[in-house]
Amino acid sequence: MTAQHDADATPQEHAVETVDRGSAVTQSDSFSDPGLPPHKPRQTDIHPAKEKRAERQVFLWFLLSMAGSVFAIFAYFAFPITEEDFGSVRINNLLLGLGLSLGLLGIGFGAVHWARQLMSDVEISEDRHPTHGSEQTRARAVEIFKLGDEESGFTRRSLIRNSLIGALALFPLPAVFMFRDLAPKQDAVEAISQTPWETGTRLAIDPTGTPIKASDVTIGSAFHVIPETLDSHAHDFLDQKALSVVLLVRMPEEQLHETEERKGWSYNGIVAYSKICTHVGCPVALYEQHTHHLLCPCHQSTFDVSDGAKVVFGPAARPLPQLPIAVDDEGYLVAQRDFTEPIGPSFWERLDHIDDEHPESSARTEDRA
Ligand code: FES
Repeated sequence: MTAQHDADATPQEHAVETVDRGSAVTQSDSFSDPGLPPHKPRQTDIHPAKEKRAERQVFLWFLLSMAGSVFAIFAYFAFPITEEDFGSVRINNLLLGLGLSLGLLGIGFGAVHWARQLMSDVEISEDRHPTHGSEQTRARAVEIFKLGDEESGFTRRSLIRNSLIGALALFPLPAVFMFRDLAPKQDAVEAISQTPWETGTRLAIDPTGTPIKASDVTIGSAFHVIPETLDSHAHDFLDQKALSVVLLVRMPEEQLHETEERKGWSYNGIVAYSKICTHVGCPVALYEQHTHHLLCPCHQSTFDVSDGAKVVFGPAARPLPQLPIAVDDEGYLVAQRDFTEPIGPSFWERLDHIDDEHPESSARTEDRA
């Protein structure tokens, strides 16, 4: 290291060279407060004409907002939603949404434009300071509080105080009942306990609605089936379809294991099970004809159709409900009756609704894998 090099070295290099390796201490990197940059006036600060123009622009945004809000009210009443007309829902929502969007956008853009162009843009800084008051102030606050308590008698008049607390506690309760009324009118379990299947209802292919004969169902085939009586034009068609959709499967009779209670629910190896998964309600539609397993694509619950649609794998807790079927005089497949238990996912209320005549239909699969 030459003398020339020592002279050229920076102070940091000096510091590094004069301490032992591994014992260097980081130099302070603090710097003095540079302060705020000088204020640059905006065009609107300098030119009164531009200021006036910005003012008009802000006014126009707010005017647009007002127009949007008024339009939303107008559209709500002028284009009401009518039952059985999905088009009315679309147009009502579209116009209402447009009006409300304009109302909000106008306020937002107007406020931002106002703040950026017209409000003072001088930056100021304020030093932090302790937020609590002085001892004297705090003592005074306590004194005022005590005086208020004394004058109102809040502590002394316990009867009034407690009744006020009671009144305040009860006051929100009406809201609870009002919100409760927002719940669906029909009990959830009742809603899924009855489906459009009735005694003698023909099984029809989904979605054509063509009734299906037993002779059409060959061994190994699977059909998605709905009641022939479903009206595809009814406003609740999709709800009714979701309740009643069934998977129809045929297998060799000797491979079908039926419990004593369910003997007679099938026809020549043809069985019908609800397609709604008992886990959380996805459609169970993947049929594997060699194993007779039905797979739910959502969480892989697997049901054995040859054995009462019991759960052999996955999170579902109950077998799929079975639809008892028969054949009418013309050879068409018909329902013997409705399902004997609510279809769809399991939940705690169901326990009160197990069909006493058919307790086996709701029994949890005992021999799950
Ligand atoms: S919904 Fe079928 S397994 Fe979850």
